[in-house]
Amino acid sequence: TNYSEPWTGYLVQAQEQIVSASLPRLALLFVINIPIIAVVLNVLYQLLPRDPSLPPVVFHWIPWFGSAAQYGQDPVEFFASCREKYGNVFTFVLLGKRVTVTLGPKGNDFVFGGKHTVVAAEEVYSSLTTPVFGSDVVYDCPNEVLMEQKKFVKVSLTTDKFREYIGMVDDEVTQYMDNEPPFRVFQTGSTTEWGSFSVYKTLAEMTILTASRTLQGKEIRDSMSKGFADLYHDLDHGFTPLHWMFTNLPLPSYWKRDDAQRKMTDFYLGIMNKRREGNPDDYDDVMSSLMRQTYRDGRSVPDHEIAHMMIALLMAGQHTSSSSTSWVLLHLADRPDIAELLYQEQVEHFGISGGDFREMTYEDMKDLPILDAVIRETLRMHSPIHSIMRYVRSDIPIPSSLAAPSEDNVYVVPKGYTVLASPAHSQLDPLLWKDANVWDPNRWLDKVGFAAQARKEYDESSQVDFGFGLVSKGTGSPYLPFGAGRHRCIGEQFAMLQIGAIVSTMVRKVETRFEGPFPKPDYTSMMVTPLQPCDILYRRRK
Ligand code: HEM
Repeated sequence: TNYSEPWTGYLVQAQEQIVSASLPRLALLFVINIPIIAVVLNVLYQLLPRDPSLPPVVFHWIPWFGSAAQYGQDPVEFFASCREKYGNVFTFVLLGKRVTVTLGPKGNDFVFGGKHTVVAAEEVYSSLTTPVFGSDVVYDCPNEVLMEQKKFVKVSLTTDKFREYIGMVDDEVTQYMDNEPPFRVFQTGSTTEWGSFSVYKTLAEMTILTASRTLQGKEIRDSMSKGFADLYHDLDHGFTPLHWMFTNLPLPSYWKRDDAQRKMTDFYLGIMNKRREGNPDDYDDVMSSLMRQTYRDGRSVPDHEIAHMMIALLMAGQHTSSSSTSWVLLHLADRPDIAELLYQEQVEHFGISGGDFREMTYEDMKDLPILDAVIRETLRMHSPIHSIMRYVRSDIPIPSSLAAPSEDNVYVVPKGYTVLASPAHSQLDPLLWKDANVWDPNRWLDKVGFAAQARKEYDESSQVDFGFGLVSKGTGSPYLPFGAGRHRCIGEQFAMLQIGAIVSTMVRKVETRFEGPFPKPDYTSMMVTPLQPCDILYRRRK
């Protein structure tokens, strides 16, 4: 043996140590090295020849954990970098799950248009939503029942109701600006002094106040300052990626979530009982409409389901609308030229003598192209939901027009995988959109451009009824802010109304500015929100 070679010396030493080591020390050595062994085996496994019908797997060092860090930090960027290496279809490992991503409009079509017997939402989302919404609704019931529940809610989201709601939203925003501390400078009447408000916090409050005044009903709005808001916050803290991955952990946020869920359910049950003691026909809102509905099999909707549906609606509309409105206001503050155009649109349509404005009606909203373009463009760039996932119930082949391993072969996504589409990615794809990363509402004013085409495909393609009324199919559009197919959003018109009315009311009252680098999206919570802290400067209009 040549002991002068350092590496052979090391080997001999190691061998001597092993021989002299006691069994427990060896066991300890093994345990300490398990993570390294696991990493090595995981890497070797990825280097082995693969089944060619499986989509390529994104390289990852740590087994089980997989690409969770890159995905969690910035999913859109992660998808873009994976597409460069693997193409439009690839699988990544996410905390033990195998998730096959299908990018682009055809990828959207594959997931959104998939048959429910093959790809299902409930297996993916239920662990997050059922403890928060409650049992027997949304993803804690068969899909046909969800379709009926969506229909029940949709019948109360009528044009007539929207006509009433618009004034209520305006009124809530006005009251908020007249009374709440962030608008103290506005309240002084000064038109020279600048104040500031924390955009996401303010919009979260305005959103819950306007949603409770309109959709949730009078009792809930009146209870906002009497404990209901606290229950909402406890429930909301149970709506995070951690709670999704681990449904029940012995941690305070889980106990508070469960407690808030019970108390909120009781709250709604109490309201229903009180209404029945009086004349239930005195009410005409979502809850009263749900109280009158019956399932196709003839059974009326049980009270606990009504309570849980009301919670689901509250949660489904809260972060989506508040983050979207926050982004709208941030972009307007960042682009005073576009904010001025929007303001002038308001003046032209609603200006009355004395520099005042008449009330906006629901019909007016359809005739405000700049407001419409500003909201659409914001939803393009800031989809609150970045990943749409479905559980694969049986092996599904991927259409070769989307991706294929070779000319005479196809990829198959095996049963037990999750498939994922990302409109957030296709809406920002530089291969599809000109200046994809530039906020440019003008693209929606052009009647023939790419945006117009995408919008047409989304809103005006052939109509399908999944059980909750006709919706345009639109699954293959690159622009899908409200999803598509059987899980398409039923809150779309309400959200457009809510966002439009909040923004209009604010734009009429204040000019805004934004200083510093534009906030990046925060992907760490369930919905994509602006990274905090982020304040908007405002000044009362003359
Ligand atoms: C579904 C987006 C506001 C209620 C969806 C989906 C998206 C979405 C992308 C499809 C999810 C999937 O396919 O897995 C948005 C955005 C909103 C918004 C961007 C606001 C800007 C609202 C509001 C409500 C609501 C205000 C309630 C009034 C629902 C419901 C579903 C849904 C009930 C159906 C879930 C399903 O069938 O699985 N939304 N939404 N959303 N949304 Fe919204």
